[in-house]
Amino acid sequence: MKIVGIVGSNAEVSYNRTLLQYIKKQFDYLFELELIEIKDIPLFNQSNDQTKSVPIQNINRKIMQADGVIIATPEHNHTIPAALKSVLEWLSFNIHPLENKPVMIVGASYYDQGSSRAQLHLRQILNAPGVHAIVMPGNEFLLGKVKEAFDNKGDLKDKGTIEFLSSCLDKFVQFIKVVSVIEGPKKPALEPEDLYATGKIETTVEGVDMYADDWLEQAAEAVNAVEGDTYVKLDRGLLTVDQLNYFLASMPMELTFADSNNQFLYYNHTLPAEEMLASRNPGQVGNPLAKCHPQASFKNVEWVIQQLRSGELDAVRVNVPTHGPDKFVVHNYQAMHDKEGNYVGINEYILDFQPIIDWYLKQTGKTLEGGADGVSGASASDHAEESDAVSGASVREEDEVMDAVSGASVKG
Ligand SMILES: Cc1cc2nc3c(=O)[nH]c(=O)nc-3n(C[C@H](O)[C@H](O)[C@H](O)COP(=O)(O)O)c2cc1C
Repeated sequence: MKIVGIVGSNAEVSYNRTLLQYIKKQFDYLFELELIEIKDIPLFNQSNDQTKSVPIQNINRKIMQADGVIIATPEHNHTIPAALKSVLEWLSFNIHPLENKPVMIVGASYYDQGSSRAQLHLRQILNAPGVHAIVMPGNEFLLGKVKEAFDNKGDLKDKGTIEFLSSCLDKFVQFIKVVSVIEGPKKPALEPEDLYATGKIETTVEGVDMYADDWLEQAAEAVNAVEGDTYVKLDRGLLTVDQLNYFLASMPMELTFADSNNQFLYYNHTLPAEEMLASRNPGQVGNPLAKCHPQASFKNVEWVIQQLRSGELDAVRVNVPTHGPDKFVVHNYQAMHDKEGNYVGINEYILDFQPIIDWYLKQTGKTLEGGADGVSGASASDHAEESDAVSGASVREEDEVMDAVSGASVKG
């Protein structure tokens, strides 16, 4: 069972964070708990919709994917902190990830009442129509006099408090199961994708026309990009930009990078467009994805990105049979994530598996059943199974996607 724990404080040092960390550590046999921080969420402002910003989309995605949510609220002036209220306003404005989500409230504060007034208010807020969470009744876990509650390892000291917390969490697990029976299996509504990349993420280069043929040259100048024999320190390596280019160009596949703002930023340019499995032109770099696909395929492109962004699928694989019987071309769409697991874009790699299959058969002496039609015939069903496993998509859905994503190359 996957639960997210929202730290209702934006303070560097927070007792409510300590409480959630304790729950994560102590009750790992009950559920997997991921903590969500709110300090990067901007202050809610109805006139400046930042729903699509990375921190809000991340919290949205994590809540949508979770079976339940635990909110640990501090008490500020007898209510919940403004920072937490602001987050709940974003989550009830244009997106509603808490809708019908089982929620448990806990709280820690300095004084005897242990955040009881804040918890009461939070209950009311979570019941508001735009939020519409399903809050577990009773089982109020109030941790008063919090300064004395934890030992120096961050563990609760009082046995009775631990037992009560344990019983509340047991009940929350049962509560989640009951809610899921009442609500039935529910797929979260996926947000529409902005294929025109009109948004902005931290790495978006501003002030350069995305549609310009020389976007790369202009953008590189705007950010003082390094090139040639300048060294770049990578996660586990040190290469010059030239070495990085040689390395990527030697990959036996066509590689494309589109960021989380749906902007096409890179491909390993080794062949002219007409010789590629999926044609790309140097001038396309920098374009929004809408410019890279025919309009008829937008629905399918959007579907692929939605699956990857939402985490419904980690990868989508599509066989494109239009290259003839001698090739088995697969477009692979792989979600990319940062170290915190946030979606940062798509790694698309396209390759012809046929030489690999041939090599495998030669090395192993194995044959494919099905004669002349062997490879495609045998793999047709294998592929359907494999695709289902990877993408979870039905064959029919894949066909649609295939039309979409291969649109450029089919025509090109
Ligand atoms: C502006 C402000 C108002 C506060 N009001 C209350 C209050 O009404 N009741 C209470 O028990 N504690 C109150 N406190 C103390 C909090 O309980 C304490 O700061 C607690 O550590 C906050 O939780 P955190 O450590 O997770 O940020 C207040 C603190 C601040 C900064």
